Amino acid sequence: MAIEVFLRLQGALPFDVFIKISEDKYTKIFNLGDVLDAQRLQNYMHKGAQKLYIQTKDRRQYINSTDKLIRKMIQQEKLSLSEAAFAVEELSEQILFEIYEDGIFDQESLFKAQALAKSYIQLLKKDVNVLTQFLKMSKNETYMVRHSISTAIIGLLIARADNNNNDKILEIICLGGLLHDIGMSFLPSDIGETDRKLTDSEWLEIRKHPHLGLQMIEGIEYFPSEIKEVITQHHEYYNGTGYPKGLRGEEIYYPARVIALADAFSALTTRRGGRSLLTPAQAMNVLNSERGKYDPKLIKAFSSLLSSGTAKAKKAA
Ligand SMILES: [Fe+2]
Ligand SMILES: [Fe+2]
Repeated sequence: MAIEVFLRLQGALPFDVFIKISEDKYTKIFNLGDVLDAQRLQNYMHKGAQKLYIQTKDRRQYINSTDKLIRKMIQQEKLSLSEAAFAVEELSEQILFEIYEDGIFDQESLFKAQALAKSYIQLLKKDVNVLTQFLKMSKNETYMVRHSISTAIIGLLIARADNNNNDKILEIICLGGLLHDIGMSFLPSDIGETDRKLTDSEWLEIRKHPHLGLQMIEGIEYFPSEIKEVITQHHEYYNGTGYPKGLRGEEIYYPARVIALADAFSALTTRRGGRSLLTPAQAMNVLNSERGKYDPKLIKAFSSLLSSGTAKAKKAA
């Protein structure tokens, strides 16, 4: 858990808090009910503590506290954008970690994720650079957590580059990006997290994840039908070579077309195991070489956004 978030929590702590003292040893530094002593916490930071830990059973409590904190931060006029972005990032990680590590997604997770998508859009509108910094921020150990956050953000950037500023559509893209691979949580983490070459039978398993995603959300009342479409269609390709249905062109739902491109770009640029990463320009070259798979209008818009970013960076150098 991020120390910066703890420093802003007010009132009695709703859980015990630990620091790590060696590979698998933790020591409790605050008890449930304590009011957090910021000075003591800063001392731990000076001694090198980078993270705090809670017990798995308390994760939901931590999510609730972070959620409240974000709402307060975003409502405040004197909001520091980078602080709010930090809290949004932290909450995204916790919700996604719960999905991929604890296998939990329920009504409450949905509400939190929906509110979170609205916060992303607010940040996007206030300062797009804050959001792009997210892409470098996440240190979470779980690839699926980092990949989901980056797919959501890249999806928003693509939609923006395509001149789409409709809040409703942006929210679908953001939430769809965060949840698109939710079905992967049913597969052994060795398949989702590895950077080795997968066997044919593992690929067959992977191809089930859009459908498995629907199983994960079964029983959740009012799950938005638009997000279901993104989950089921995010591996459909524009030229009809995707799965599960082989839909083509505009038969594919617009937010799913955006997420298909964002997903592929994220996979090439997000750290996974020891695999070497592509730069944004290299990733775009790869996607351009498979351009039939993606909506040509989206590829064009995203390419020009990236090249204008590169040109700016060169000018500044
Ligand atoms: Fe996927
Ligand atoms: Fe994905």
